[in-house]
Amino acid sequence: MRIGLRFVLPLLAVLALLAWGASVVLNDTLRRWFERDMSMRAELAVNGARQGLLAPWRNDARQKIATVLAGIARDERVMGVAACDCELGLVASSPEYPSTFDCQAVGRNTRKPEVRGSGGWRWVSWAEVFRLPGGSVHVSATPVGDEAGPLGFVVLVQDMSDADRRESMTRQYTFAAFALLAAAASLLTFLVARLSWKDWTTEIRRFLRGGKSRASRPEFQPVLSDVRELVAQITTEAQADGRGNAWNALRLRQTLKHYLHRERVIIVANRQPYIHEFAPDGSIRVSHPASGLVTALEPVMRACSGVWIAHGNGSADSTVVDQSGRVRVPPGEESFVIRRVWLTPEEEAGYYYGFANEGLWPLCHIAHTRPNFRSADWAYYQSVNQKFSDAACAEVDIDDPIILVQDYHFALAPRMIRERLPRATILSFWHIPWPHSERVAICPWQKELLQGMLGSSILGFHTQLHCNNFLDAVDRFLEARIDREQHAVVQRGRITLVRPYPISIECPSRWLKQVAPVAECRASVFAELHLAPDALLGVGVDRMDYTKGIEERLLAVEQLLERSPHLLGRFTFAQLAEPSRTAIERYRELNVAVERLTDRINSRFGNQTYKPVVLLREHHEPLTVFRYYRAADVCYVSSLHDGMNLVAKEFISARDDDRGVLVLSRFTGAARELTEALIVNPYDIEEASSALATALSMSAQEQEERMRSMRLYLTEFNIYRWAGRMLVDAARLRLRDRVSSRLVDYPKLAEVTQE
Ligand code: F6P
Repeated sequence: MRIGLRFVLPLLAVLALLAWGASVVLNDTLRRWFERDMSMRAELAVNGARQGLLAPWRNDARQKIATVLAGIARDERVMGVAACDCELGLVASSPEYPSTFDCQAVGRNTRKPEVRGSGGWRWVSWAEVFRLPGGSVHVSATPVGDEAGPLGFVVLVQDMSDADRRESMTRQYTFAAFALLAAAASLLTFLVARLSWKDWTTEIRRFLRGGKSRASRPEFQPVLSDVRELVAQITTEAQADGRGNAWNALRLRQTLKHYLHRERVIIVANRQPYIHEFAPDGSIRVSHPASGLVTALEPVMRACSGVWIAHGNGSADSTVVDQSGRVRVPPGEESFVIRRVWLTPEEEAGYYYGFANEGLWPLCHIAHTRPNFRSADWAYYQSVNQKFSDAACAEVDIDDPIILVQDYHFALAPRMIRERLPRATILSFWHIPWPHSERVAICPWQKELLQGMLGSSILGFHTQLHCNNFLDAVDRFLEARIDREQHAVVQRGRITLVRPYPISIECPSRWLKQVAPVAECRASVFAELHLAPDALLGVGVDRMDYTKGIEERLLAVEQLLERSPHLLGRFTFAQLAEPSRTAIERYRELNVAVERLTDRINSRFGNQTYKPVVLLREHHEPLTVFRYYRAADVCYVSSLHDGMNLVAKEFISARDDDRGVLVLSRFTGAARELTEALIVNPYDIEEASSALATALSMSAQEQEERMRSMRLYLTEFNIYRWAGRMLVDAARLRLRDRVSSRLVDYPKLAEVTQE
């Protein structure tokens, strides 16, 4: 229908214009003919009566003249006749002669000077049409005289309403004729468009149902197979969603296979999911690093299989790998491979501690630590990005692999990989906030970072705000087209989608299968901390990082104890703090500050047997962390700025008893999703301590309601959905690229077919 209208409307407009033009030209011509006809009739009438007029006129027999004039006026079209003398005085007239056209007015047109200044006149015929309110009239003046000289002139006024009528009829007929023509032409166009469209859709439908496309239409072939694939994808996805099919490892694996025809993916991430370390007795232990990135992506990798390229930083890492630095993990399951990249101490200092963690980390987090950018670090950042990119390229066995590049350690890698593998699908995810472009401007290499990231097919952030910030930075620092409708950047015809994908965790968590029931966890943790059975426990779980607001958290605990004397001796806050990046001065300062604060609170409110704050500054394996989550009455996540914060989500997933309260900083990405938590401003110590007090006195029913709702949300929006959404978007992008590249070839194909 739309196609029909697209042709028919312009056609109608053109035809209407033509109709109008034609009627104007036609009317004009007809009118001129009619006027000329009237002038001739007037002249004939006067000339015919001339002989009867001459004698009475010379003798001034006015009555006789009036009789002759009345004879002329008998014609039904003649409205009046008058005879005027050479002095422009009225000689005689027919009875109905209109007074408007008196001898003076008409005579001025019919009398011309004989010789300029001579005072003599020569008489000429004259005629004109006047459009009056009651209709047009034709007025003419014809000179009368004989050999003896001129006598005057006869004025004839003729009715032209007939001509008016004919004019309007002509206009109507012309319009009617063109309207008919327009209708016929539109109908014809519409039918032709419909038939062509029907032909196309029949062809596509037949093809999609499995039939062969007609041999006479080979030009359909390249597009149709892609269309069929797209429809199949959409149908499968719609069916899956319609069934309320939850995202899990199996569905993610099927998605990868079905949409991308792949069994495996390649991940590039600095931190490895399993670290091999020598124990003091010389044996080799495997540990799980404290990292949100690992928490999120390890289940994805187990579901999809493939290769995880990471920095080998464990003391026994090199002992367990093969010649290419590869080892199968998880121990006992061996569903995927870690390929370890070895870094020299200089490389680690420049790339990891220097550029990534003293430069980019404080640049991206609003936590009041000054970023340091040094060109020596930048050089290492570039060379290590190249090293990891080379390792990724060495792992691929096809020219369009799926490569997941993770985090701020590898801003340059997407472009480096793209240069080697132009057809690769590169999905990058930035696990920390992306700052406002004012802050991006601080980095001396902001253009290179942006260009590097734009090597990605899809670039993911946790929130829309971070995506917007990124697009603004591209707008400000690069020459690229930003497609705000699609949320994409287009450079040299290549597109990078920039989309929010709020990261999540495996939910239900695999650790829940191994951890003891809540009562047992509580009993064991309480025993470890020497707490009475009726004690109240708060927990915090973090890497020791200044962005996590650990000092602010302890200040809130201190104020809580100040304001709630009934909690003294009863409330304990256990802070599980993983030592992190201690080679950096700022982190060492933080350790000292947290230690001092802990001591101060403990000495203010504690005694020999009661320690209000327990600082557990060491690595904790996930099972221990889960035990603490399950033992706690409240978990406080107080980040000053955090892309997402998966501790908050892990705490929820650990509480299958629907108990416990989450107090959550509003400056985390998680606060947008976990709205049933008690959301606080961690800088507002009073508000935070009140929230802790509210949490500790919250009724069991309210705890259950809040926890159940958040658990339901996480089960739905888990890490498999996160990865699945990115993969499905990537599949659509691949398909779109394929379809458009074939459509570009289409004209050539059509030419070949015609030959
Ligand atoms: O928050 C982003 C993130 O990459 C996390 O995934 C991880 O916890 C941390 O930063 C990096 O920690 P690390 O420097 O110990 O790898």
